[in-house]
Amino acid sequence: MGIEFKALVVTEESGEFHSHVEDRQVSDLPEGDVLVRVSHSSLNYKDALSSIGNKGVTRSYPHTPGIDASGVVEASDSPNFNVGDEVILTGYDLGMNTWGGLSEYIRVPANWIVPMPEGFSSREAMSLGTAGFTAAMCVDTLLQVGIAPSQGPVLVTGATGGVGAISVWLLSNLGFEVTASTGKLDATPWLTKLGASSVVNRNSIGEENKRPLLKSEWAAAIDTVGGDTLSNVIKSIQYGGSVACCGMAASANLNTSVLPFILRGVNLLGVDSVELPLEVKVDIWRMLAGEWDFGEKGQLEEMLCESVSLYGVADALESILEGKHRGRYLVAV
Ligand SMILES: NC(=O)c1ccc[n+]([C@@H]2O[C@H](COP(=O)([O-])OP(=O)(O)OC[C@H]3O[C@@H](n4cnc5c(N)ncnc54)[C@H](OP(=O)(O)O)[C@@H]3O)[C@@H](O)[C@H]2O)c1
Repeated sequence: MGIEFKALVVTEESGEFHSHVEDRQVSDLPEGDVLVRVSHSSLNYKDALSSIGNKGVTRSYPHTPGIDASGVVEASDSPNFNVGDEVILTGYDLGMNTWGGLSEYIRVPANWIVPMPEGFSSREAMSLGTAGFTAAMCVDTLLQVGIAPSQGPVLVTGATGGVGAISVWLLSNLGFEVTASTGKLDATPWLTKLGASSVVNRNSIGEENKRPLLKSEWAAAIDTVGGDTLSNVIKSIQYGGSVACCGMAASANLNTSVLPFILRGVNLLGVDSVELPLEVKVDIWRMLAGEWDFGEKGQLEEMLCESVSLYGVADALESILEGKHRGRYLVAV
């Protein structure tokens, strides 16, 4: 198929990485069952890492990042998808070592594809993206171990980030009292609008503390930060409470004793949005498009997202790396 299209391409030159929008042909795309014309993508921390040559995310360049994409099937060798079907892609190898969603076309294996839930749009899906999907997984994980609003407040760390902000929104709409931890106290009114009942300075829980247990404060927590923050959060969970751990915005390390686990029965629950089975992904997207689609149509997107084109992606990725942004970047491809 001789279609020419635009894609963001990260190139490596003498150890430096640069992002440009370039023309590509459909014949340049990797092999795969389904060709998708991408209408929207979104930016996540992993895309920012891919754009600066983080080899844990992307091994070789030139490369097109984008771990998220939504759009319409343009050609399909799979019996499961027909031309014209609307689809969502998040995770697996998309945008890591496979050509990603910051591109007008992608070609992918059929077993990476989630059919668009009824009544949901490509734009809505990408205003949530991997961040929203991960937030939903974290909330679902806590609900599955029996955390309920009556047990007390839930702490969300990295609250102005994509995962954090959507976690605040989902938890508050499910009736939880939410404490948001942030380094951007000027975002307090915004976090309050998303549903936080209180906002704390992240420095208050981000410093190393040698005490084995801290004041028991939260029924549960969603942690996107890792490191000393996660260590302190675990020590501050109420008896029998749980922490959903999904991120490492500060550090991938975790220094803890066993005491919170064996004296307070605290649960540390890992959340991975990338490799989980497709049928589980389908269920979570259905929930996000259905019973967890809170608020007026477009309300969350308006509060959460700044929209950029492919040409605005390089600057947006830089602001993610600097930790300056709040909420999410929606990419209108
Ligand atoms: N497990 C999974 O499947 C999965 C999926 C998606 C994301 N993640 C991970 O989850 C984390 C958050 O993702 P995201 O998309 O929400 O990223 P993001 O939008 O870049 O937000 C990260 C937030 O963390 C806080 N932060 C940044 N640097 C920090 C530091 N040095 N110390 C303490 N807090 C810091 C900031 O919030 P405040 O200024 O409000 O404190 C920032 O907005 C990342 O590590 C990402 O890789 C994991």
